[in-house]
Amino acid sequence: MLELRAMGCGYGQIRALDSLDLTAAPGTLTALLGPNGAGKTSTMMAIAGHVQVQQGAIWFEGRDITRASPVARTRAGISIAPEGRRIFPDLTVAENLLVGGYTRRMAEARAAEERVLDLFPRLRERHRQRAGSLSGGEQQMLAIGRALMAGPRLLLVDELSLGLMPAMVDVCLAALLSLKEQGLAIMLVEQNTQRALEVADSVTVIASGRMMFQGSGAQARANPDLVDSLLGLSGHGPPAD
Ligand SMILES: Nc1ncnc2c1ncn2[C@@H]1O[C@H](COP(=O)(O)OP(=O)(O)OP(=O)(O)O)[C@@H](O)[C@H]1O
Ligand SMILES: [Mg+2]
Repeated sequence: MLELRAMGCGYGQIRALDSLDLTAAPGTLTALLGPNGAGKTSTMMAIAGHVQVQQGAIWFEGRDITRASPVARTRAGISIAPEGRRIFPDLTVAENLLVGGYTRRMAEARAAEERVLDLFPRLRERHRQRAGSLSGGEQQMLAIGRALMAGPRLLLVDELSLGLMPAMVDVCLAALLSLKEQGLAIMLVEQNTQRALEVADSVTVIASGRMMFQGSGAQARANPDLVDSLLGLSGHGPPAD
């Protein structure tokens, strides 16, 4: 469904990710792990169309979308809940959701909103509340909900658990698992390796823009030391050429 073919991305002269091959299938959760500065956010943003692809290609449902605009990708079925959540604090929960549904007809957006509010009853309770007054966990629910408003078949979630109480992480992870059961492909970037490994069907570890490990969730879980040691590469710089 999603296929990165030797995809590299970055910012002008700066290369954030070197040549990554990765596939994600419907109804699966792919964890993208790595230390700070590894290139996780850049990879997710390149898939969503916000960071420049410098090499290779991105295919989605049989189409080359490497050069497609962000809105074309949204329409094609790719949505992102970005790092830092980026909700609009001065808008209400309802208004934030409506923004996420901007590519759709009003009737479709209303139906999508009902599904989001069923998924996150907390958001239904706080529907008319200013988003800036929500707790961190509720803001993460809203960021995911807003991404869902476009009706994605691939949902990218960057830093699900950052700053959240464990109980809130549980709620958000349970929501992702239920979306996965409904057939969505989920790609999750997560600082909390342990939690990500518990739920991942496949795992890719990158460090300094390079792929360090790729395997099934079961393989990664059977080998937690490997993943831990790879994440420990933080600060050691890229491997010598
Ligand atoms: N807007 C930008 N302009 C230039 N370089 C950038 C920009 N954003 C990120 N980078 C660089 O790209 C590299 C990868 O950053 P990225 O944010 O993708 O990492 P990350 O794995 O998401 O890190 P973190 O765990 O801290 O969120 C870093 O070297 C970073 O400095
Ligand atoms: Mg990041």
